[in-house]
Amino acid sequence: MEYAEYLRQLPKVELHCHVEGTLRPQTVADLARKHDIALPTTDVDRIYDYETIYEFLEIFRLVNSTVIEAGDFARIAYESLEDGVKLGNLKYREMFFNPTLHTTRGVAMSTIIDGLIDGCRAAENDFGVRCRLIADIYRQDPPEMALQMTQEVLANRRDEVIGLGMDAAEAPDPPEKFFESFRVAGEAGLHLTSHSAEDGPPSNISTCLDLLGCERIDHGYHILEDDAVVARCRDDGIHFTCCPTSTAVVYGWPDLTTHPINAMMKAGLLVHLNSDDPTMFRTDIGKEYVDFVGQNEYPPETAKQLVRNGVDASWLDDAEKAELHRAFDDEIAALDKALAG
Ligand code: HPA
Ligand code: ZN
Repeated sequence: MEYAEYLRQLPKVELHCHVEGTLRPQTVADLARKHDIALPTTDVDRIYDYETIYEFLEIFRLVNSTVIEAGDFARIAYESLEDGVKLGNLKYREMFFNPTLHTTRGVAMSTIIDGLIDGCRAAENDFGVRCRLIADIYRQDPPEMALQMTQEVLANRRDEVIGLGMDAAEAPDPPEKFFESFRVAGEAGLHLTSHSAEDGPPSNISTCLDLLGCERIDHGYHILEDDAVVARCRDDGIHFTCCPTSTAVVYGWPDLTTHPINAMMKAGLLVHLNSDDPTMFRTDIGKEYVDFVGQNEYPPETAKQLVRNGVDASWLDDAEKAELHRAFDDEIAALDKALAG
């Protein structure tokens, strides 16, 4: 077995993937036609072209205006998980969705959540992959809107919705703005995470951990600018959900051998790999491992450690994590044999 195929076939957990960033180009075209929505080009593949986080977010919003009915939400969740399974042997995902991206267009919270859950259940049934959901604050929203969204998520609570997160452009809107939402979600028992130090200072990580109560950090690359924050996160065993390809594109680290993820690993931080917005960045969870591990010429031990970190960083309970580790160990033993043979 080739090393690239081994990396693709490693069983995986993914904790940083936005369902709205997983729409297949064909699905965007289908939904746009179904709902009579005009797109800027009929060549949908060309929609996914941009150079900055701001251009990306504009297209993210446009593409998502085609997702309206519960069945549309079910379709995108299902296809997204199918792609994860087929392209990267995905076993478990905690998947972001941005409620206000949809509710501000008049879509009901229950339509979004019930639709996504339907798609997740169908994918679990067909492919064995499990998925839980994390509602994301869109940080360019006013704090009052974020709080209302959080309360609405709690009012429409389902077992599958396990966390609150925060995304969109970090630089203009610091995490403390959304303290109240995180307080309410934490008190209600949701797990907490946030995109942080992706496009902002390392102090945002401290704010997310200490003020907002976040349990893990999404991205986190600018942590390297502050040794004290690095030491604290290493000592506390904070996990970082890193995304090689998406940040290579919009934050200018096109060479994965010099991407800050490498220095984070060297500094002893706990990282694992994720696809972020796979179709929008023309990647998938398998390709993230093939490209990042392959281009850095890391050995199988490193790839396996990244995979294990993903399991440990998840919000599964201890028994579920132990069970997943066991299942992964069995699959990996067979892959190790195939690689050696
Ligand atoms: N960063 C910021 N906003 C986003 C991202 C991301 O990785 N993905 C979707 N929206
Ligand atoms: Zn993200």
